[in-house]
Amino acid sequence: MPPIVLASRNRKKSAEIQALLGPHAVQVLSVADFPQATEVDEDGDTFAANAAKKASQIALQVGHWTIGEDSGLRVDALGGAPGVYSARYSGPDATDERNNAKLIGELGNRPAAERGAEYVCHVAVANPQGKVVLSVEATCRGRITTLPRGTNGFGYDPYFEIPEYHHTFGELSPLVKQVLSHRARAFRRLIPQLVQLLHDSGSAEL
Ligand code: IMP
Repeated sequence: MPPIVLASRNRKKSAEIQALLGPHAVQVLSVADFPQATEVDEDGDTFAANAAKKASQIALQVGHWTIGEDSGLRVDALGGAPGVYSARYSGPDATDERNNAKLIGELGNRPAAERGAEYVCHVAVANPQGKVVLSVEATCRGRITTLPRGTNGFGYDPYFEIPEYHHTFGELSPLVKQVLSHRARAFRRLIPQLVQLLHDSGSAEL
């Protein structure tokens, strides 16, 4: 099977994706290993548009099958914000800490019942010619806590509680996140089709 390039420079997110693909004998390369690959401007209005743009542009630059992933947090009481702006919610100098501080400030002292939210993950796969041939989106429902709990994960995880478990993704083990998360759900749906595509394209080259 040919390898596939992951078009993300976010190390924690990439590690999660590597772990999801690991058991499926898919050889994953990082975009960071291709000096010719430029930053992709994530200016789409939707997770789908950004994931497709990342997959397609990087595939054309590196000449390999490529996975584009775009994800973020949608908070019910904030009309779906921060949404596609999740990584840059607190502005150009955004950090996880600043983004979380802004989120908690915006929610103020709303009660737990009004703090519903969901993580969204969209994954697009482009062939080496830059054409998007697979596209999947999945969500994971939760609730935004008032105080951070736990140090696992990244981004909004210390504040994102899975109500059924009474724990945040910051507290739950990475193994549990690897089953429940938006990213896990999207990749579970994508993997059978991805493996088939790579397998078929490998046979076509023989
Ligand atoms: P992207 O790299 O442009 O897709 O930005 C994704 C952003 O959404 C991250 O920087 C986080 O702020 C947020 N996000 C996406 N997935 C997760 C997750 O699994 N945990 C915590 N934050 C996440």
